[in-house]
Formats: sequence, structure tokens, C-alpha cells
Amino acid sequence: MKPTTLLKIAILPSLLSISVAQALPNGASSLPEPAQIPNRLEIKQFMPDELMQVKALESYTEPAWVTEKFVNAGLLPPVKDRLPKEPIVMMTESMPDGVGEYGGVFRHSIGGRPQGWNWAAAQTQGWGGINYTVQQCLTSTGPMYQLKGEALQVLPNLATDWQWSDDKMSLTMNLLEGARWSDGELFTSEDVRFYWEDTVLEERIPSFSSADAIGAGAKLEVVDEYTIRWHFEKPSQNQALYNMSFLTFCPGPAHVLKAHHPKYTEGKTFDDFTNALPADELPAVTMGPWVPTDVKTDQIIVLRRNPYFWKVDEKGQQLPYMDEMHFNLGTWEGRTIQTLAGTADFSNMENPPIYLETLRKLAGDNAKATAMFGPRNLSWAIQMNQNPTMSVADVRQEGIRLLNRDLKFRKAISHAVDRKTLGQALVKGPFTAEYAGGFHPETSFYDADSVVYFGYDQELAKQYLAELGLKDTDGDGILNFTEGPAKGEELEIVLTVGPTSSEAALAENLNSMMGEVGIKIIPRPLDNVQNDAERDRGAFDWRTHRGEKELAIPFQRVEWIAPVAETGPLWHRGSNSDPQQLQDFEKRLAELALEFSSEEDTAKQKALMAEFNTLFTENVYHVGLVSYPGALLVNKRVKNVPNAPILAYQWAEDAVMRERLWVPKADQIAELQPETLPTHSK
Ligand code: GLA
Ligand code: CA
Repeated sequence: MKPTTLLKIAILPSLLSISVAQALPNGASSLPEPAQIPNRLEIKQFMPDELMQVKALESYTEPAWVTEKFVNAGLLPPVKDRLPKEPIVMMTESMPDGVGEYGGVFRHSIGGRPQGWNWAAAQTQGWGGINYTVQQCLTSTGPMYQLKGEALQVLPNLATDWQWSDDKMSLTMNLLEGARWSDGELFTSEDVRFYWEDTVLEERIPSFSSADAIGAGAKLEVVDEYTIRWHFEKPSQNQALYNMSFLTFCPGPAHVLKAHHPKYTEGKTFDDFTNALPADELPAVTMGPWVPTDVKTDQIIVLRRNPYFWKVDEKGQQLPYMDEMHFNLGTWEGRTIQTLAGTADFSNMENPPIYLETLRKLAGDNAKATAMFGPRNLSWAIQMNQNPTMSVADVRQEGIRLLNRDLKFRKAISHAVDRKTLGQALVKGPFTAEYAGGFHPETSFYDADSVVYFGYDQELAKQYLAELGLKDTDGDGILNFTEGPAKGEELEIVLTVGPTSSEAALAENLNSMMGEVGIKIIPRPLDNVQNDAERDRGAFDWRTHRGEKELAIPFQRVEWIAPVAETGPLWHRGSNSDPQQLQDFEKRLAELALEFSSEEDTAKQKALMAEFNTLFTENVYHVGLVSYPGALLVNKRVKNVPNAPILAYQWAEDAVMRERLWVPKADQIAELQPETLPTHSK
């Protein structure tokens, strides 16, 4: 219905006929063309086997000090015996600066803090690239942004290859044979089974994944030490391969974890298990290229090269090239400031209020880093709690929940937001664009014609609020409920906002925009968005939310955008006592999300996504505010950095393949723990 009519209206507003107008929701339009961002990056694309291949080479080498101090001293087996039968070979063809030199330090800086090393129990290590370092997953999606369109496929990681059965009901996967954890123990199908059966499916242990997240009715069969087979209830569960990458299918070391798991060790509780690997107990056992060996609270985490890492370059040199990695424990904005100053090597610049100052500094001759702007694949939106009863504490909250579930109210809010002003409040210039919600513009699966946009129109907003029975009955400038459970109450809405300067600017501006239509906003600031108990209990009114890859590559995490399980999306969760109460359009969104996830034909998949996006935006499922680009900042001394958006299939830390980054000897900075290896490596 809408796609073509919307387009016509955008081009020929004067020809708007009554019959066309009837087909459109009142007040809707298409999204205006956004401004061009200067110096957008160009991405070089390859075939999958030009990026990596799984194969044995004739011989392998490692940094000379490892051979001399460890292998020759009998402390470690020779490198060929530490590698899998067929390692993953990172191909020279796709390396921007070619085969590298060993040594040096890669310095990250992050705003998060490690909860512990038990990611199998949903503990975070602090984000910003440290989770990506220690959590290795069955498949890899980060570097996919570099694949040619016709060759788009999930890439190997701990699983090297896979095959669907003829009826597409089961998926057989081969694991890296002979790969080892950083302490020297073999990685096998038992690690996969333990992760799935004893952590994901064990409801008493928190998990980054869930029974349904892999694919409909997923069941795991262990075929042998290096082969697993998934069985599904429905054919072609293609999203399974995406869900077996970060963050959802990165097994923990079963040989370490079983000693803390109640099923295997008497006297242990499930809480013991979750907290079994505290942040300060190092080294942590990982399959990653670097191993955490030292931590100083609120200062730094030091990681050293993993002598068992299972990737090599075409010359047979074991990766990573760099011996040491640091995570300075600071703030998210500090990350960009440090990268600018040259005291950190990498930042996803993602807080618009610091863009202009950063760009000004980067233009100088002595600039330490370069910045690459990507597409507008980040956004801000308001999420309105859609569960009518969950964690409702009083009549005001009850009234707000009912309003949140009323389309007229959501449209009123959308019309009350002046997105141009909001965008310029975040950063002046061409960066931000008006955002209608739904999928991110400028990303591969976006269809501009699918968007229904309820843009700035304060009068219409006021009219809708009045039609909803909201009226300032006591003359204090704030609307009152005149009916329903909250009758007589003022329309005060608590808005949860995170700790960045972006969110401060959003809160301030939303506050005044809502004030102009008679709604009082009470900001609830958070120190740390990751720890928000009220969000998790479904206890909030509204929250601002930064949309990420779920809105760019929609089939990757459908439970974040559609109610396919009680756990999501964040703004309509359910619990045993207060289950989700899905509205008709939500039921249809869930169906469509599952359909496009298992659709193999790209054209059909895109059509389903367009239908989804129309339904999502015409129902204002969340209130889109602005979309904007991020820029990747990397220190100039670092080689092999491909052009990369800060976020595509994964964040840039994963996408740039840090194990291949290197620094010429003359530019290397001193290591804190030179010529050492994690002490647990035997
Ligand atoms: C946080 C940061 C992102 C990115 C990711 C990586 O979310 O805000 O820029 O570094 O961590 O997990
Ligand atoms: Ca009032």
C-alpha cells in the first residue's frame, strides 16, 4: 500500500489527492533526505577465502623469545603442536599493509568494568573490545562487512565449516580439531555441549543466549569430539549461524567451569557458578588471541599473547602480531580523548557532542590518529514500556502504561519532538538526521519507502493529547489525567537516561519539548547503562536507548526488536506473574521477524523486512529521535587497519581483526611485561 504513495507525496506534495491521503495515517510523511557526511569511508571488499582459509601450512613460527625462553626450556610444546591440525590462515590478499612484524602493545581504553570472566554465565568483561578478546565464538560475523555482496556468508571461527541436511532441518558443524585453550587443554564438542546444556538451557544460570535464540526448537547432538549437529523444528534456521557468533555462542572452558557447577561438583550453588571467575583472579582461561594476566581496579587490565592461539598468517607466523594488549579503565568519552592524545590506540567515536572538537584536533599536523566516518548506523529512540502490569507500583505508573500502549499517544509524542533541534543540540552540522524509528537508514537492509514518519507538529500533538482526555485541570501547565486509573494525577513521566553527554543533551531538550505540550519529564540518570535493575524488572516509564546492530542487520538479534520471546524487546518484557500482553501489530511483528530470519531468498527477505519496518514505524513501536554516524579513530602507527564502520555486523573491535594489526619495530611502545606468557600456559 504505502511505499509508492509515500514516495509520490514526498516528490509532489501539491498533487496530494484525497484518495491517496486516505491511504496514509494522518500526519504521516516520508523521512527527509539527510545531509551528506563529508569524507565517508570506502570499504574494500573480498571473497571469503581472500580473508581467511582453514588449512595446514608446511611450517609455523612464533616470536623468537617464545621459542628461546619457553619451548627450548621445556616449558611449552613446539608451536606446531600447540596449533590445531588446520589453523585459520589470515590471507595476505586482504591485509592493507601485508604480513606483519611481531612485538609491541595495543592500547584500548574503556568505560566499562569487568564483572568477572564467566561470560558463560552472562558476565561482562567491560565491553569496548575486551569481551571480544576473551570470548571466542563458534562463528564470526564482525569481518563480514568486508565481503562482496554475492559472497555474503558467516565466517569460520571455532567451527570451521558446516552443512545443512537436505531437508534443511539439521545443521552439522565441524570444530577446529586440536585447538587448545590458553592453559593448553583441548577445546572440543564437550565445551559446546557444556555451554549449551549446562549454562544456556539451565534456567538458574543467567545467559547471553536462550533456548529459542539459536533457532526454533534447537536441539544439540554431539556426534564426536569435533563434530556437532543441531536439529530444528522448522527448516532453514539461517539465523542460527549468526546467533552462534558473538555474544550468544561463545563457550566457556568446561574443564575449568565444571568444578564450580552444582551438577558436577557437590556443595556448589548456581550463584557460586555465576561468580566463579572473579575479575581479579588471573590469568583467565580463554581461546582468544590475548590472555588477561593482570588487573588494577579502575586503572588497567593487561593481557599477554596466548601461546595457543589458533590463527596464523600465510608465512606460518602464529598470531597475534602484538605481544601485549591494554585496557585502560576510564570512561567512554575518555576513550576518544585518549586516542586523540595518543595515549590509547583505538576508539569508536560515538558521542556526537565531542565530534567537532575531535575533528578540529585531528586536522592538525601532529594529529596522532585518523578518523573514518561510517554510515548513520547509530540512533537514539525513546522506548515506552508496553507491559501494562509488570512492576507497576502506583496509579500514575498504571496510567502511563495504558497511554504507552495507545497508538494515538505514541504518535502525539512523535509529533512533539523537534528532531532537527534535537540533532543540532547533539552536534552542529551535517551529522545527525531525523529518525522515524525502525531500521537504520544508510544500512544494507534499509528501504526508505518502508518508513512512515510522524514528524514535528506540535498542534497535532496537542490535539491528540486532548483527544486522549488529558487536560490541565489545575492550571499548573501540566496535563492531568481526567479518566482511568490515574484520574486527577499530573502527567509526569520518568525518563531513564544514561551517563554520556549525548544523553544529557537529549534529556534536556526532550524535557523542554515535552513541556511545550504539557508533559513533565523527570529524568532518572544512570551511572552505568549496563546495570539498570529497573529496566531488567520492567519497572520504567520511558527510557532513551541507543539503537545498534539489531537495527542495522535486523535478522541477527530479532528478540531485541520484536516480541518473539518474553525477554524482549526491552520495552515489552514479560515475567511469570506479568506476561507480555501483545497487541495485534506486535504479534504480526514477531511473525515477520521469524519469517525474515529463516528466509533464504534475499529479495523475499528484504520484502519481509520492509513490511516489518512499515508496521514498526506506523505503530511508532519506539519513538525514533535522530540517527547519526560514528567514526573509528586509530593511532597512525598501527598497520593493517582496514576501513571499517564502527558498527556493522559487530563493533569495529571485532571487525578490524585485531590479531592481524601490527606496528613497525621503530614505532612499538614498551611492553609492561616483556617476554612473559600467561603463567597457566603449560
Ligand atoms: C561498547 C561501546 C562500543 C563498543 C562496544 C564493544 O558498547 O560503546 O563503542 O566498543 O562496547 O563491545
Ligand atoms: Ca496540571
